[in-house]
Amino acid sequence: MTALKILIYPDPRLRRVAQPVVDFNDEIRQDVQDMAHTMYEAPGIGLASIQVGIPHSIVVIDTSENKNDLKVLINPEIIDREGEQLIEEGCLSFPGYFTEIKRSKWIRFRAQNLDGAHYEMEAEDIFAVCVQHEIDHLTGKLFTDYLSRLKNQRIRKQFEKAAKLRRRESPVRA
Ligand code: NI
Repeated sequence: MTALKILIYPDPRLRRVAQPVVDFNDEIRQDVQDMAHTMYEAPGIGLASIQVGIPHSIVVIDTSENKNDLKVLINPEIIDREGEQLIEEGCLSFPGYFTEIKRSKWIRFRAQNLDGAHYEMEAEDIFAVCVQHEIDHLTGKLFTDYLSRLKNQRIRKQFEKAAKLRRRESPVRA
C-alpha cells in the first residue's frame, strides 16, 4: 500500500472532473487500496480520487468510530435527497480549516463496487454530509464554493500564503 500525496488547495488540479470507471481491473483495485490507506493515515473520514491525482470517479469513506467500515463508491451519484442540516466540515485538501455548510439531511445514492456491481444506499447525518462532500470533489467542486465570495477570497489568500511558505521551505531537488 502506498500513501498518496494529497493535493492542497489552491492546487488547480482540485478543479479536475473525474472520468467514469469502465474497466474494473487491478489498477482500480490498487487505487482504492491506496486511497483507503491514505485516508486512514491522514486521518480523515472520506477521500475522493481527484484529491490524490487519480483521474477516475472513486470515493472512499469510513465514518465509523472504530475505522472498520470502509465504503467504496465507484461512479457514485446522488439520486434523491431530503431535509437540511448544518454541520461543521473540514477537508484533507484544506488542512486546519473548518466551516459550517448547509447540506441535505438524507440522501439516496447509486454507485458501483470493486466488481462493478451496482448498488444503492441511503445515508443520513454525518455519512450523508461526507458522501455529498466527496461527490462534489469528483466534479471539481470544493466545500468553500458554498461560502460567500468575500469569505472565499479570504480563504484563498490564506492558503496561497501557506503554499508559498511550503515552497520556500522545501529542499531544492536537482
Ligand atoms: Ni474534501
